[in-house]
Amino acid sequence: MLSAGVHNATLKAVELLGIGSDNLRKVPLVDGQMDCAALARMVAEDRAAGALPFLVVGTAGSVDLGLFDDLNALADVAAELDLWLHVDGAFGAWTRIAAEPYRSLSDGIGRADSIALDFHKWMYVGYDCGMALLRNEDEHRAAFAARPSYLEGAERGLAGGEPWYCDYGIDLSRGNRALKVWTALETYGEAAFAQAITGNCDLAAAMAAAVEAQPLMALGAPVVSNICVFTARSDLPVAAQSQVNADIAQTLQESGEAVFSTTRMDGRVMLRAAITNHRSRAADVDAAIAAVAREAARV
Ligand SMILES: Cc1ncc(COP(=O)(O)O)c(C=O)c1O
Repeated sequence: MLSAGVHNATLKAVELLGIGSDNLRKVPLVDGQMDCAALARMVAEDRAAGALPFLVVGTAGSVDLGLFDDLNALADVAAELDLWLHVDGAFGAWTRIAAEPYRSLSDGIGRADSIALDFHKWMYVGYDCGMALLRNEDEHRAAFAARPSYLEGAERGLAGGEPWYCDYGIDLSRGNRALKVWTALETYGEAAFAQAITGNCDLAAAMAAAVEAQPLMALGAPVVSNICVFTARSDLPVAAQSQVNADIAQTLQESGEAVFSTTRMDGRVMLRAAITNHRSRAADVDAAIAAVAREAARV
């Protein structure tokens, strides 16, 4: 069970696990959040039909719009229906260290059975460095640990001590990805990250205000975290808007002025800014919107 706005990574994971995406059910959204009543109803239907629903995937920070499920409500349903609650918090989990009103977006995330999150997104370290947090260490270890004779532990020496990280994941040999996280945190401290994350969200709100101040632009959805999605020419028919927005994204990428990505809302290609750079400032937002306005005026 997952919400309609889930990232493709979850679909891939379910395929890789051998569960198969045919066995996924997409729960509709209400006001951008998974509809918990629909979730409960769908689980009951599946159980009545003899299926074994066991997992619900919540989203903390949806890739398209930066939306958050109500994680406390999901945790309540998961507990009541005996489902494993996984939260994809790839970037949104980091709102835990942001200031309000952003911090409370991820309230309830600590009740999940597992959480996935990336340091290479909102913790500003280079690719790649993701993390999975699992509530139950024994279950986690039992899923992965394998100690053939050449990996036997010892009282002391190189094979002495715990933990062995290969007991907690697929890889046996693995790079020291944690070093860059440790270095960044040691150098700048948590408060600097918290401030940068909060600042990124404030800039997305500022971008939304700048879009609303432009007569021909329109937001695709209210901004709740660090993602602002909008159209540059709301006055045009949908197909023409799509063309204009896609062209503007490419033109500005090529000129190097601003890097908007695009996404689709109701079939319409929209400009999307996901603000995750600690160096972004209000002047960058103003310049980016001015560049979009300039290109949109050429149409
Ligand atoms: C919500 C969400 N989940 C998962 C992913 C995949 O993350 P990655 O493959 O970078 O770890 C992304 C990337 O954009 C994302 O935004």
